[in-house]
Order: sequence, then structure tokens, then C-alpha cells
Amino acid sequence: MLLPVLLLITSLAHHASGSDTILISSPSLSSNITSPDLPSALSIARSLTSPTIYLPTSSPTFLTDTISLTKEDSSNLLITAAAGPPSLATISGGVKLSGWFQCAGSPHLQCAKIPEGGQSRHLIVDSRRVVRSLGDTDLTDIFKDPDEVALTGYTLPPSAADQPSIQSWLNSSSLTSSPPELVFTAQGSPWTESRCVISSVELMETTGQVLVNMAQPCFTNLQQKPCGQGTSTPAYVMYFPLPSEAELGMEELLVVMPILEVLLDVHGAEGLRFERVEFAHATFERPNSGLGYVEQQSGALVEHTSDPPDCVDSDWIPGTSNVLLSGARDVTFEECKFTHLSAVAVEVSGGSHDCRFQSCMFEDVGGAGVQIGRYDTFNETEASKQDVGNAVVNSRFLRVAAELHGNAAIQVGYSKGTVIDGNHIEEVYYSGISIGWGWSREVDTYAGNNSVTNNLIDGFKLQGSYPDASLGDGGGIYVLGPQQGSVMRGNWLNNMGGGLGGGAFYPDEGSAYWEIHDNVFSNATMCSDDCEWLHIWNPSIHDITVRDCFTDTATQRNDGTDTVVERITVVEEGTGRWDWPEDARDIMDNAGPDKDTWFYYYEEA
Ligand SMILES: *[C@@H]1O[C@H](CO)[C@@H](O)[C@H](O)[C@H]1NC(C)=O
Ligand SMILES: *[C@@H]1O[C@H](CO)[C@@H](O)[C@H](O)[C@H]1NC(C)=O
Ligand SMILES: *[C@@H]1O[C@H](CO)[C@@H](O)[C@H](O)[C@H]1NC(C)=O
Ligand SMILES: *[C@@H]1O[C@H](CO)[C@@H](O)[C@H](O)[C@H]1NC(C)=O
Ligand SMILES: *[C@@H]1O[C@H](CO)[C@@H](O)[C@H](O)[C@H]1NC(C)=O
Repeated sequence: MLLPVLLLITSLAHHASGSDTILISSPSLSSNITSPDLPSALSIARSLTSPTIYLPTSSPTFLTDTISLTKEDSSNLLITAAAGPPSLATISGGVKLSGWFQCAGSPHLQCAKIPEGGQSRHLIVDSRRVVRSLGDTDLTDIFKDPDEVALTGYTLPPSAADQPSIQSWLNSSSLTSSPPELVFTAQGSPWTESRCVISSVELMETTGQVLVNMAQPCFTNLQQKPCGQGTSTPAYVMYFPLPSEAELGMEELLVVMPILEVLLDVHGAEGLRFERVEFAHATFERPNSGLGYVEQQSGALVEHTSDPPDCVDSDWIPGTSNVLLSGARDVTFEECKFTHLSAVAVEVSGGSHDCRFQSCMFEDVGGAGVQIGRYDTFNETEASKQDVGNAVVNSRFLRVAAELHGNAAIQVGYSKGTVIDGNHIEEVYYSGISIGWGWSREVDTYAGNNSVTNNLIDGFKLQGSYPDASLGDGGGIYVLGPQQGSVMRGNWLNNMGGGLGGGAFYPDEGSAYWEIHDNVFSNATMCSDDCEWLHIWNPSIHDITVRDCFTDTATQRNDGTDTVVERITVVEEGTGRWDWPEDARDIMDNAGPDKDTWFYYYEEA
């Protein structure tokens, strides 16, 4: 139902009439100034009062460099689409691929040269994220049973040398330009999905064994056996078109390879507004590098190589984001779209205050939709360096954490006064919302006054097939560490998946000072273990009140200290939507974005 409709948006965007030039207006100008590109438009706008930059909607504005906005840009700048609603103006960090030819030796595969600065992780064909090639089961099995695993990599038995992928790696010089990646799903920690690439493969003449050297420090940081799959791409893109695409011919398709990693870097700017702008086609380089992608939790990556790991905050950083707001004040995104991105869509941190995402759509994003705050700022006492009053409101998250399954749709480190209200989050593998950090280790933090209200989270802890995400210990709303004066109210969590452990409302270690009330949990039919609607599992969790909630499973755990659970209504499992008590129905009706928000309008069109 949704897919054809989204194609409609694309076709509107591509065929709407209108020029490709960028216009700049200001109350002090009698007519608009035209500009050939966005960087020049921004420099013109700097000398104007309350300038507006109108971006074309007829074709994407392709960037060759990150757009950087600083204090100099802070004069009520508005960046918006030239045509009125429903048009969006696209800012793209990709390039169009052309020059397709039939790859040697295959009647089906189409090849194109990877352009300057290109990468091997991410390709968009007519608005569809292309699935990278996966290693076959034989290959996966070989890695499950190596002769030896060392901190440097694997020693595989002589039979491995017969495996076609391994033969091609032994013969191939492409390992450095586009290295195969091993995916470690739920290895070590059940809630993580880490990735490291292979750096070189050698045949040991004496024993016939195959030595697979892994990129560092990624593999040392991981120190786990893999269960994942290899993926491999040569210096050319090799694409297996869908039958309809093959019939049409590759040159008729809009094939975009994301090249830039950061589309927009807002540093210390104030009072900027983005309306009806789509941020698209940005990549994520780190997983291919020696650092790799080693997760601690909720998209926090292991950055330091302490051995053994110290488990202190300074070990972890948030994953890369494709749009970055750092030390930003009052920067707002309204009716914007974040799509075909590889990393986290947006990070708001470094002392950002009052930044806001209102009625935005996050669709097809590799990692989280929004990351607020960092993981190493618990003791920040200077208000200007704390992340305060940032909000994600009335927005929709569809196919986020699409590749980096250990991410939540919205993930928040240390922050104060964060507002997460009225959002619709669908289909995530780990958690819908993860907020807080520090477990019971950091008790004296500035985190507090956070509110998670009126959200609809439909499908979390799901089990997935690419590569084979089977993460556990997640939640619908997951919280961590003390957060004075925080509230969780009016949320409806539906469809809890089969990930083991955790629960729908999940205050984890050290969680404290939450009022959790007037929420609904429904439908645990996909669960595979104890299906807890409330998971308070440990005495380090304290001073939390859970009251006036509704659930269709009575299974819960309450092993906290001074954690009060009262006035909980349990309805029969499978109770139809209209047969819940009236108060529960009101919560369900009210949860999620307003029904007339633009992205629902498209869905019905
Ligand atoms: C400038 O361009 C915008 C977008 O096309 C338009 O809405 C506006 O009326 C123009 N302003 C002037 C002064 O021409
Ligand atoms: C790899 O190289 C060896 C020796 O040159 C050759 O026999 C073998 O067919 C090659 N394998 C592949 C997959 O290219
Ligand atoms: C916060 O703690 C870290 C690690 O203990 C320390 O290095 C830093 O100086 C502290 N910062 C403040 C503002 O106290
Ligand atoms: C929360 O807000 C209240 C009222 O505005 C204020 O008194 C309190 O200090 C705040 N707490 C935190 C942890 O920010
Ligand atoms: C509950 O989950 C099952 C299994 O996914 C699904 O078939 C059913 O429609 C869901 N019910 C509701 C009310 O969402």
C-alpha cells in the first residue's frame, strides 16, 4: 500500500514544473536574487535580514561538499521548497550513475564504474535501497567453525580454500577498495549487531589453511566469533536489475550512489529553519574502515581499545550522523524528510538547545532517525554545553535502523528537557525509543525532565532476515540511568516481536525518577519468551511509579527498589481494538501524529 504512494512523491518531485535555480528573498529586497548553487546562495543570504532560500523541487540539489552553517548564518534564515505543498526540495549527497554495461560473464548483471569518491555500501535505484550481495550459507558455515580465532582474525580449515568466495578473495586485489564485511548479530551482547571488514586473505602453503586477517582495531574490539555473512563488491557496481528494470534498461532508471557522508553540519548556529526540505543520499564510511562498527548499545560505538574494556563513558561515541547539529540553538525542521541515508539521520548534541523536528518523516535510514545528546557528558555542569530542550514531535519513522539493526528509532544519551511526543515508529529490530545512559554507574548526572508522551510504537524487538537480525533485550520504550522529573505518558506500544528478554516498557539498570502512567501495551502474540509488558528486573532500578496503564498480558516483572506498580488493567489477550476500556481507547486514539499530517495524506492519495 505504502510503496506505490511513495513512488508517487518521487514522480511529483521529478516532474513538477519549475526552474532549477535557487532563489533568495528578503523583506529588504524588491525582487528575488537567483543563485546557481546552494553554497553561493548561503553566502548571499548572510548579508540579508531574515532571508529565505527557495530550493527547486523539479530536480534534486546535488551537493559536492557538506553544507556548513555557523553563527554567521544565524539571522532567521529559512530554507524551503520553491513550490508550495505538497512539494519537497531534495538536497542530495549522491551522484547519478550512468554508463551501464553488461558485466563480463553474466547475462543478468549490469555494471557501472564507481565514480570518484564512491563507495561500496549503499546504492539507491528509483528510490529503493538495494540489498547488497550476501555470502552464501556455505561461506557463513565456514566462519562458524574455524580452526582458530585470534585477535588478528581467523584460521580456516584447508577445505575453506575450495569455497568460491574465498577463492575469489585469495585471487582478488579488490579487498582493500571494497572489503567483504562480516556481520556479528547478537554476538557477545544480544542487543548489538557489530560489523568488521576483512583486510587480507592468505593461503598458508604448509598446512593449506586459509588465514583471514580482520581490520583493526575493529576485530580486537569485538573479540567474538561471527555468525554473520560476507558481502563483497568489486571496483564496479554490479547490479542485478529487477525484471521490470531490465526491460526498461538501466539508463532509464534514476540510480544514485551516495558519496557525501555529512550533508549538513550546523555548528553553533541559531534560529535557522528548514521547511519541506528532503535530505537524501548520504553514506557511512566507518564500517569499511579499520575502526569498523562495534556497538556497545543503542548505536553507541566502541571508540577506544582499552583491554580489557573499561566500560566507562569515554569509551563510547554516538555513531556517525548524516546531518549534524552541534551547539545549535533554536534550529527547526518542519515537514522535512530524511531518506536513503546510511548512518544515523540526524544528531543533535554538543550543547544544542531548543532544536526541533516537527512533522518530519524519517524513511529508509541505515541507523537511528534522531540521536540526541552524547554518551560521555553525564557530568557536564555548564548549561551551555548540555543538550537541553530538544524535541521530536508529530513525526514518523518508517524503515529506520534498516541496516544497523542495533539502533533505536530515536536514541538519546544524556539530556535535559528532551520532548519526544506524538511520533509513529514502525518496525524496529531493537527498541523504538532509547533514552538515558550510565546504568547505575553515573548517578550524579544532569539528565532529567525528559518526557516521552503520546507515541505510537508498532512492531519492536522484531526478528529480521537481513542479514539475520535476531537481537534481544530491547523494548518499546527503553530507559537507562536516573532522570529526575521524567514522564512517560499516553504511549501505545503494539506488536512486540520475538527478541528474547526485555519488555515493552523497560526501565533498565539505574533507571530512576520516572512517572509512567496512562500507557497501553497490546499484542504480544509474536513474543517467544515471557512477553513482559513491564520489565523492572533489578534492584538498581528505583523510585519509579507505574500506574493507570492497560495491557493484554499480565506478565510483568517488578524487582526494583521503591518501584510502585498500581491500578493496572489487564484485558484478555486478543481483545479487539474497540473492546478495550474507554480510557485505553482514548490513549490509542491519541497516540501518534495528527491524522492530517502530510505523510498520511500521501499514503491515502
Ligand atoms: C520569490 O520566489 C518565491 C518562490 O518562488 C516566491 O514565492 C516569491 O513570491 C518570490 N518573491 C518575489 C519578491 O518575487
Ligand atoms: C584463483 O587463482 C588460481 C591460480 O591462479 C586459479 O587456479 C583459480 O581458478 C583462481 N580462482 C578464481 C575463483 O579466480
Ligand atoms: C567529567 O568526568 C570525566 C571523567 O571522569 C573527567 O575527565 C572530566 O574532567 C569531568 N568533567 C567535568 C566538567 O567535571
Ligand atoms: C526540572 O524542571 C523543574 C521545573 O522547571 C526544575 O526545578 C528542576 O531543576 C528541573 N530538573 C532537572 C533535573 O533539570
Ligand atoms: C497481533 O499480532 C499478530 C501477529 O503479528 C497480527 O497478525 C495481528 O494483526 C496483531 N493484532 C493487532 C491488534 O495488531
